[in-house]
Amino acid sequence: MAMRPTIIAGNWKMHKTISEALTFINELMPLVDSASAEIYLAVPFTCLAAAAEEACEAENIEVGAQNMSDHEDGPWTGEVSGRMIKEAGADFVILGHSERRQHFNEGNGIVNQKLKLAYLSSLQPIVCVGETQKEHESGHAHEVVEKQMRESLAGISREDAASLILAYEPIWAIGTGKNATPEVAQAMHSFCREVLKKVWDAETAQKIPILYGGSAKPDNAVQLLGQADIDGLLVGGASLNAHVFSQIVNANVNNQVA
Ligand code: PGA
Repeated sequence: MAMRPTIIAGNWKMHKTISEALTFINELMPLVDSASAEIYLAVPFTCLAAAAEEACEAENIEVGAQNMSDHEDGPWTGEVSGRMIKEAGADFVILGHSERRQHFNEGNGIVNQKLKLAYLSSLQPIVCVGETQKEHESGHAHEVVEKQMRESLAGISREDAASLILAYEPIWAIGTGKNATPEVAQAMHSFCREVLKKVWDAETAQKIPILYGGSAKPDNAVQLLGQADIDGLLVGGASLNAHVFSQIVNANVNNQVA
């Protein structure tokens, strides 16, 4: 029976300076040294190098970025390329987070371009999808998420897909304190896995971890992680405090592939 890893990813968003990042990592390491979950920390660009070096001591912590440019290099003032973040120590990159989609006009085409560049820079991508409250309430979640997935993931080989992580983050649950119930989240994750089958094939779809994001906290982590197709969590607010985040990391569950 093949297993998907359990991944607990923290997305710090625009929080923490270098010194704050180092304090966090030093607080976190002893709290999670026997955790079975893989820990991902998506940190601001400015603390990437320092955080990656500090986390080197911990075998179960990966450090990555929250975004990257959709260009390889060139006259793009203020942008940061995949190659730059890779050399700064990033193992992975979050792409298409709803805050990028909503506030920075990132459509599926841009996410797809970034995804191709992430593979070119040997960065493991975490591609985010999710519907708005209005789309959720009007019964369009499936349609919206399938379109986001098909367009964002277009043109990626099976070999590259094997290292992809997908994150389902309903926008109505992000930063609202109102998480999707485990049942609602599981139903969407199972739907996402069906779409992954259509994009590639059943074998590839079974290998791709699907993370849930949106008000994940210590008190809902165990139930969420207990669902068959929820392979981990993408945590915003609750990833900023090392003690709180460690409780989510230590919510000890194995996810098995049928
Ligand atoms: P939240 O954010 O945990 O604060 O809801 C999740 C995210 O935006 O990735």
